[in-house]
Amino acid sequence: MTTAPTRPNIPITPVNRHGSRSRMTCLFRCGNACDHPEPNLTDNGHIQQEITRALARRSVLKGAAVGSGALVVGGAAATASGGLAAAAVEPARAVAGDLATSVFSPVRPNKRDSVTVAEGFTHSVVMRWGDRVLPGAPVFDAYKQTAAAASMQFGYNCDYVGILPLGRDKALLIVNHEYTDENLMFPADTYTPAEIKAIAMVNHGMSVVTIKRGLVPGDWQQVTNLRNAPHNRRLHIGTPFAIVGPAAGDDRLKTVADPTGRAALGTLNNCAGGTTPWGTVLSGEENFNQYFDKSGDLDARYTAQYARYGITGVGKGWSEVDPRFDLTTDPHEPHRFGWIVEVDPTDPKSTPRKQTMLGRFKHEGANIVIARSGHAVAYMGDDERGDYIYRFVSADKFDPAKTVKARRHNLTLLTKGTLSVAKFVGDGAGDGSYDGTGSWIPLCTDTTSYVEGMSVADVLIFTRLAADKMGPTKMDRPEDVEPNPVNGKVYAALTNNSNRGKPELPVDEANPIASSMVRASLGAPLTAASGNRNGYVLEWTPAGGEHTAAMFTWDLLLVCGDPAAAETYFGGVDKSTVSPISCPDNVSFDSEGQLWISTDGNVLGSNDGIFRVPVSGPLRGQVRQFVTMPRGAEACGPLITDRNRSLFFAVQHPGEIDGATFEKQASTWPHTDDFPRPSVCVAYKRR
Ligand code: FEO
Ligand code: CA
Ligand code: CA
Repeated sequence: MTTAPTRPNIPITPVNRHGSRSRMTCLFRCGNACDHPEPNLTDNGHIQQEITRALARRSVLKGAAVGSGALVVGGAAATASGGLAAAAVEPARAVAGDLATSVFSPVRPNKRDSVTVAEGFTHSVVMRWGDRVLPGAPVFDAYKQTAAAASMQFGYNCDYVGILPLGRDKALLIVNHEYTDENLMFPADTYTPAEIKAIAMVNHGMSVVTIKRGLVPGDWQQVTNLRNAPHNRRLHIGTPFAIVGPAAGDDRLKTVADPTGRAALGTLNNCAGGTTPWGTVLSGEENFNQYFDKSGDLDARYTAQYARYGITGVGKGWSEVDPRFDLTTDPHEPHRFGWIVEVDPTDPKSTPRKQTMLGRFKHEGANIVIARSGHAVAYMGDDERGDYIYRFVSADKFDPAKTVKARRHNLTLLTKGTLSVAKFVGDGAGDGSYDGTGSWIPLCTDTTSYVEGMSVADVLIFTRLAADKMGPTKMDRPEDVEPNPVNGKVYAALTNNSNRGKPELPVDEANPIASSMVRASLGAPLTAASGNRNGYVLEWTPAGGEHTAAMFTWDLLLVCGDPAAAETYFGGVDKSTVSPISCPDNVSFDSEGQLWISTDGNVLGSNDGIFRVPVSGPLRGQVRQFVTMPRGAEACGPLITDRNRSLFFAVQHPGEIDGATFEKQASTWPHTDDFPRPSVCVAYKRR
């Protein structure tokens, strides 16, 4: 009998982090992406590629009436039956509720181990790591975890939060489980290394959970009688996925286990996402590169491709449990991750799909808007320092009919269309604002490649390398990119980039900050740090208000940070009236079109949080903090729904602070156990 090993106590590299994020978060979530050189070695961004600015201006001005007439079918307006909005979820400009209209005192920056919501509001914990999702799931016990149990329980580290109404009083809650932290999850001397890996693998993925209204308006609870929750589902590393779209079946997607190149197992590092107007959920496979080991050499055919995606063969040892995670013997397995996956929560038996037409990169998420023309448009960010923003436009039009035939048609929309990458050109900072024009550079359609020397499949499987050749703008870690259903503009969170301003990554007008004021701890003085540490929110207006247009105008709505710092900007509003904000990550909108922003990695000494920001009128840019997170946690997936009565959000990696272990936790939130449990919450008006 072998000696029972302790938990691996995975060593944490003693290097400075890019933000306040602990070394544990950087290791477990991103595989220390920031310690590696930027994989984008192109000189895009150095060259002010000449796009004809005057022409762009003219075409934008011609269609200045943006938004008001756009056919708005915002993500939140979809229903679980795939039709348009029912009573439980608002269409744009629905009856305004508390969260959109209430005046609240901002929550002050703090380091509490709690979810602190603005006065007058409260919150409930809806689903915790380990809660039962499927009938047959055991009650969670941290000392009796198994992979089989985890495959029926709510996964770890919830990120994206989506809601699809199920009648008036129930809804489906759809959640991503991005990554695991083995140091916090497993008691020492309890599990073998192989057990830890197998359980961690299954704790990745997604959950579909039925919820019901609570007694107080705006409150929601899990349905615990799982016989009344037939839609509940766990998608994990063993769940079959279909690879669809133009690259499906390509030789580079074929593996030992799947000679068709069309049948993948599992989804990984699911970060943000969006609901579609046809009632499905899109989820982004983000830092998928970190899960692959090597037992020998890497396949020399893919040296450049692996490098561009940060695939090094330094993985998590999962190949000991499942040999497909050994790059040496299965070099194509990583090509089957890095996609947008589409899940139909209304049909628990449906096979989720990896949509190759939306390209392969470190997908933060994807958010759909229906253009005036009727085409479905997806906006997407590639979350890496110096990577790009993308757009997909469907070839076919959305069918709004509430018929089986229409839904069947809409389920094919993401398989054919045009994939493009964004180029931002500034008009000079001398005019007092960071703004300019931009263009969408087409990479390919489902039948035609626009990139010299690359086929359609090349472009889709190795999208980063295709985009590199076309001169897009290297951005500061594009996270959520979401169309605003009220004003027709698009908002992108650019979370931070510690390398901005270095010789290899000079500033440009869309990424203008090379030095930021940060704070070592709450109450400490502001000090200067190189790079863009606090992030931006970028806003753009499609030419003519049409999301399929080739051109747009853009500006920075927010240059985040402490309002006392000279470099910050908050839409022009009086800076003394705003909350400090750092590292914007996920965004969403209430029915007034106000932006709700969650943060990841506050470098101003406070815990992370969620903020409300008007985007028009005299208060445009007035950031006000609505919630703060527990210690060590990041805020994810804010979603305003139920006629502005409910703010759903995920509390990810509570307690993930350097040095913490299962026995020595830095947080016990949500305080139901002596260890932290990542959970989804809902905030609502106190009655
Ligand atoms: Fe998983 Fe880009 O955050
Ligand atoms: Ca300017
Ligand atoms: Ca994120």
